[in-house]
Amino acid sequence: MASWLPDSFSADEVFALEQDRADSLRAFRDRFHIPVGPDGKPLIYLVGNSLGLMPKTTRQIVDQELDDWARLAVDGHFDAATPWYSYHETLREPAARLVGAQPNEVVCMNSLTVNLHLLMATFYRPTKARSKILMEDPAFPSDTYAIKSQIAHHGFEPTESLLLARPREGEHAIRQEDIEVLIEKHGDEIALVLFAGVNFFTGQLFDIAKITKSAQARGCTVGIDLAHAAGNVPLALHDWNVDFAVWCSYKYLNSGPGAVAGAFVHERHATNPNLPRLAGWWGNDPATRFRMQLEPEFVPVPSADSWQLSNPPILAMAPLRTSFAIFDEAGGMTALRTKSTRLTGYLEFLLDRAPSRLLTVITPRQPNERGCQLSILVHEHPKELFKKLEAAGVKTDFREPNVIRVAPTPLYNTFHEVWRFAGILLVHQ
Ligand SMILES: Cc1ncc(COP(=O)(O)O)c(C=O)c1O
Repeated sequence: MASWLPDSFSADEVFALEQDRADSLRAFRDRFHIPVGPDGKPLIYLVGNSLGLMPKTTRQIVDQELDDWARLAVDGHFDAATPWYSYHETLREPAARLVGAQPNEVVCMNSLTVNLHLLMATFYRPTKARSKILMEDPAFPSDTYAIKSQIAHHGFEPTESLLLARPREGEHAIRQEDIEVLIEKHGDEIALVLFAGVNFFTGQLFDIAKITKSAQARGCTVGIDLAHAAGNVPLALHDWNVDFAVWCSYKYLNSGPGAVAGAFVHERHATNPNLPRLAGWWGNDPATRFRMQLEPEFVPVPSADSWQLSNPPILAMAPLRTSFAIFDEAGGMTALRTKSTRLTGYLEFLLDRAPSRLLTVITPRQPNERGCQLSILVHEHPKELFKKLEAAGVKTDFREPNVIRVAPTPLYNTFHEVWRFAGILLVHQ
């Protein structure tokens, strides 16, 4: 629950400016490059849920790796300022802090969809009796494609083996009780429950702990796609006993386009060398990795690292170090969440002043059922409104057929920007 009440908000500009003055995280905005519009003024950038802004220190950290490559070439593997051989290990602890994991449960590698497939190769082992996957609808298409193709890959029919949890007619969020009913009813046939942490379209934050508990009680494995949750909401993957999770780093983690993604495998699986998995040399015990043809048998590292396939892309990984450092400096997800719930609550308060025939916020109203994103269903001329916002220097995004998503992020967005955005939106309605 939020520690503030909407009636403590005011629609006066002075109020928004005061909020920014009192914001203990306000200095972090200056750590990022903020794109400017044709008038040379900073855009109101509300799409950190799509691509986070570039931290000013990112260039320097990538340059460091380029310099080490130029200077040291192959010796950079061990002699670079941050040796490349163990580079991924520098990401382990901060990544674990962000998702509420133990360090041996996380690894930064690949892209999100690749990680989804790699972990499903281990954790989706359908049988005739138990072949189904339960997911939310609508889900991001890449997840749907990955899941359907996994089902087909194992010789099952997606039309029969895919179960969807949907909002009720006339509603936008999926009720927890409806998810429970599906698990209760089909639990014996479900191999895997694969849900988003935060839904990409509505911004609904699911109760991961409850879903995991109910699903596991029926013998199902649980995987979570944290694309819209990592760096947005506090997570406790280890304590919630989630089996596996994946996330990307280009949204709230600000690590750049196509940034190296993350994966979580619960300790009880991560330390099990007998699980089936698709193997590559970087998942092998580092002690024997370079004995090559002398020891051709795969010996998995007893951690999430054993799902790694290839040697890591250092130039692409470098930005993650900067991003994680910023999160740690800001006090981690607890501090950011405190500002975030207030900032998004303020946006909701301002949007509530618009006549309901014009727009409906389809994101849940309870702060503990959402992250920072609000999805606004625009009843008339939605695309035109989106274009007007763009012309007025506001970056939002549009999801067909009629939804504008806005995600004020606590690291770089201000209360005054939210106030200005709401003013522009209402004028152009
Ligand atoms: C929920 C979700 N799943 C999957 C993806 C695809 O990620 P990637 O292109 O990194 O595989 C995205 C991208 O935005 C997403 O939001």
